[in-house]
Amino acid sequence: MPEFEHLLDLESLSKEQLVEIFNTAEGFLEVLKRPIPRVPSLQGVTVLNLFYEASTRTRFSFELAEKRLSADSITFSTATSSVKKGETLLDTVRNIEAMRVDMIVIRHSSPGAPHFLAKRIKGAVINAGDGTHEHPTQGLLDLFTMQKYVGDLKNKKILIVGDILHSRVARSNIWGLKKMGADVHICAPPTFLPFDTNIFGITVHYNLDEILGSVDVVMALRIQKEREDRPLIPDYREYRKLYGLTYERISKLKKVPFIMHPGPMNRSVEIDPEVADSPYSIILDQVTHGVAIRMAVLYLLSGRKERNV
Ligand code: CP
Repeated sequence: MPEFEHLLDLESLSKEQLVEIFNTAEGFLEVLKRPIPRVPSLQGVTVLNLFYEASTRTRFSFELAEKRLSADSITFSTATSSVKKGETLLDTVRNIEAMRVDMIVIRHSSPGAPHFLAKRIKGAVINAGDGTHEHPTQGLLDLFTMQKYVGDLKNKKILIVGDILHSRVARSNIWGLKKMGADVHICAPPTFLPFDTNIFGITVHYNLDEILGSVDVVMALRIQKEREDRPLIPDYREYRKLYGLTYERISKLKKVPFIMHPGPMNRSVEIDPEVADSPYSIILDQVTHGVAIRMAVLYLLSGRKERNV
């Protein structure tokens, strides 16, 4: 199996590489349940978390994963750095690299920023979300969570509903799910769809009630108001009525799918609180699994596997 040097997207990973990450994460999930949830696997490895965009789940999950693996890690926040004085991304990273950093986790609002760095620096680069392009560790933790609840993803019917246009989470999930053989469906108003959905080989729906009752898993996406250059839907109450995972809609179903959301949630817009907090919701499992997935990615990219540390 070809090794991967960086984790930039799920589009370029093979099914075998995805499975290797899931199998490695399974071992780390066991580590996280121990009374002392820590292993020495990345002792002596230095990781830089470079967050040019806000984050709660991804940033803390990476920081925790690094601590659980005994890596040395530093987190960079643009608000308190020389980015405020106009320093470029490349200069910032080259200066930090000069302090001997081995791996860089980067979140940036520009699609392709992690790819840009990966071509120019020596260390491994992990994409923690690049604009509207991809969020590969989120896609991995989502697929890992789905497998825990529905088993092998081959031919499982997975629905993603909401703001697909701006969603890096949707893109990573779609690439990953297709590689695992899932039957992928999306549902959204036309203004929330990319121009060409054919490239993904998925089924597009406009009526949520026609598809919701037949799927194994449904993932609601956040409406990303901050990425809209003009309003794309006339009214959030109407959106909730037509595309929201509302209590009324879910309670009418004979078979309720497992309910997911990558967070942060707009409660009472794309998902009702009664649904997000219901027994069908596996949203907090996604967050728990995120630490194990990120430990697996850091470990596999560190080169330590070959040295069997
Ligand atoms: N799911 C996700 O990326 O959340 P954060 O923006 O809080 O990291």
